[in-house]
Amino acid sequence: MLQGKEVLLGVTGGIAAYKSVLLLRELIKEGANVHVIMTKSAQNFVAPLTFQTLSGNQVTTEIFTLFSSSKIGHISLADRADLLVIAPATANIIGKIANGIADDFLTTMVMATRVPVLFAPAMNTNMWASPVVQANISRLKSMGYNFMEPAEGELACGTTGRGKLADVDEIMEDIKTLLSPNDLAGEKILITAGPTEEAIDPVRCITNRSSGKMGYNLAMVARRRGAEVTLISGPSCLPVPCGLPTIHCTTALEMERIIHENLDNATMVIMAAAVADFRPAEKSEKKIKRLGDHCLDLEPNPDILAGLGKIKGKRFLVGFAAETNDLVANAREKINRKNLDMIVANNVSTCGAGFCCDTNIIKIIDRDGTIYDFPQMSKEQVAEVILDHVVASRKKDGKEQ
Ligand code: C5P
Repeated sequence: MLQGKEVLLGVTGGIAAYKSVLLLRELIKEGANVHVIMTKSAQNFVAPLTFQTLSGNQVTTEIFTLFSSSKIGHISLADRADLLVIAPATANIIGKIANGIADDFLTTMVMATRVPVLFAPAMNTNMWASPVVQANISRLKSMGYNFMEPAEGELACGTTGRGKLADVDEIMEDIKTLLSPNDLAGEKILITAGPTEEAIDPVRCITNRSSGKMGYNLAMVARRRGAEVTLISGPSCLPVPCGLPTIHCTTALEMERIIHENLDNATMVIMAAAVADFRPAEKSEKKIKRLGDHCLDLEPNPDILAGLGKIKGKRFLVGFAAETNDLVANAREKINRKNLDMIVANNVSTCGAGFCCDTNIIKIIDRDGTIYDFPQMSKEQVAEVILDHVVASRKKDGKEQ
């Protein structure tokens, strides 16, 4: 996701400095080129060599470090970067920057750069609550600096409360948000995910192998790109994305009801859920015993998406087609029958695509029948590609109107 991005990681002197090693690894795993800048006190917690070895780049610790020929280091780095993240950010660094002090490499660079700056503070609970720290943060926020809320929990100093460095996953999510285009701002999107479950008796059900990964990734990426997202999830083991409004449901009928309850404000619905087409005609209140002959009567579930197609208005509707054969023909038929704007088709019998796995191989089919083919990608990348097409289609629609 961060391929080709230049990220500056500022590390300041708090015990949470060891967690910035994990943050560095995540940044590199996602393809970023990272330059680490350490303050003097940060070097008491972690050796620069650790960051240097993992980043493959020289770690900057001195204010007068020169980079490539004659350009002064902080200017050279500040010019090249896409983003500067300071994690952990101590009360001291926040105070210095808020008050215009530039007495080391990191503080000087914050002033020299025009790229987005993200602070991930970590400090003792009382320090965090101190009016001085809070005033400095408000001042920096009002100037356009970005802040993460520290987490609550047991701190290294022995107290319990707010002040822990935010989770690395959450810092990564904020970094990706700052590096994403804001091209879905103004869109209110309902995204469904996962399977549905239709009870046969108290212990058995009809369901499918959908994990929810595609829908959850779409929800996260759409939020990063500025959309107001509501995730409607069938049963899934995935953790709820931090701070993302999520409504859980079990059956297709529940999912249909929740969608309709939230439809009024929605400008778009993306139905990534694998909704069960049938449910048992009757649910046994008691566990069905093994003895005797059994026959399961099924009745059809409503086709939620086709129902939405009938009351579509100006909403943008995206459907999914999980097929094992005649992929394109089936997808085209669905786009017309369900009155959709776009369909994402994947062959669930192909290795590396469809349910459960972390990757997908998709084709996007437009309302006018154009087919776009994509190679195997992570579901996060697939979500980006789908939303790129949504944005392009929305722009085209806007011009045509
Ligand atoms: O017709 P089919 O079930 O293959 O269509 C798949 C698309 O329709 C998916 O987007 C899925 O979320 C949606 N769907 C639905 N209600 C159903 C079955 C599928 O909305 N009962």
